[in-house]
Amino acid sequence: MISLGIEGTAWSLSIGVVDEKEVLLVENDPYIPKEGGIHPREAAQHHSERIGKLVKSVFSKIEPDKIDVISFSQGPGMGPCLRIVATAARVLSLKLEKPLIGVNHCLAHLEVGRWKTGAKNPVTLYVSGGNSQVIARRGKRYRVFGETLDIGIGNALDKLARHMGLKHPGGPKIEKLARNGKRYYELPYVVKGMDFSFSGMVTAAQKLFDNGISKEDVAFSFQETAFAMLAEVSERAMAYLDRDELLLVGGVGANSRLKEMLEVMCKDRKARFYSPPTELMGDNGAMIAYLSLLMFKHGYVTELKDSTVKPDFRIEEVDVSWE
Ligand code: ATP
Ligand code: FE2
Repeated sequence: MISLGIEGTAWSLSIGVVDEKEVLLVENDPYIPKEGGIHPREAAQHHSERIGKLVKSVFSKIEPDKIDVISFSQGPGMGPCLRIVATAARVLSLKLEKPLIGVNHCLAHLEVGRWKTGAKNPVTLYVSGGNSQVIARRGKRYRVFGETLDIGIGNALDKLARHMGLKHPGGPKIEKLARNGKRYYELPYVVKGMDFSFSGMVTAAQKLFDNGISKEDVAFSFQETAFAMLAEVSERAMAYLDRDELLLVGGVGANSRLKEMLEVMCKDRKARFYSPPTELMGDNGAMIAYLSLLMFKHGYVTELKDSTVKPDFRIEEVDVSWE
């Protein structure tokens, strides 16, 4: 069985095609802001201008007849962006006469991670631009045990980078700078139970930079503090739920220092640490296609009338009957 998935919750416009065994194809045409952060209307404009070409390009490599399911990211994300991909998916589904499935973007990050690593019932640390959550399955639902009280870690990194004159996306640039950091400066470490917060840290780190501390030291101090917070809450969730697997997913999961800290924590507790290949960490169409395949095989389809976008779609809303 073959599924085609369209991702477009924010900056990424991506189509992926997967079968049960592997990712067959991924094509990307990301929106990269000229300056500043992601502007929802501009991103949507970009997606609407490019989606036709992207579909054509994918269908020049794989025959439309071979596709069994058409899927799209239904939420959470930026409304204007979501509407473009939902419309494209509806059109393809009607035209090709194939079932339509709208999927939860966060769950797609998580399930593609489990698929590619073999993790069974892990605690998942999901860290991206807009989201930062500690998730685990209990019965037929995934539950969020801890999350950011304000902005996602990726947005925090992007904001700090922008303040230091670096272009979007800032996460990879901060990672590079941090490697040459020499001195640690204390920043507000905010963990409340299993929740955490980054915005105060961003302001404090921006102040360090304004006071003449080097980019390298600011980046280093920021990463060490923020990632320690993430490791702490992941560990607490693992202890509380008595789980011995940790799965890292989401765009920020590409960061080697974060992986290293989580690996050390897992080793200490004799737990296994899993992270999927970097190209499947950030937003991509393959994760949407994969989750829809899983759902389709378990009887899910999205009727046209239910295919409206859900900008605030929470992972807890999805009944997980494939476990
Ligand atoms: P979501 O809708 O799930 O919140 P997203 O739109 O933020 O997703 P992702 O691709 O999951 O998209 O994550 C993008 C984020 O990942 C950006 O904030 C980017 O700076 C960050 N990022 C990418 N690579 C790295 C890295 N090596 N280190 C730290 N952050 C990174
Ligand atoms: Fe994402």
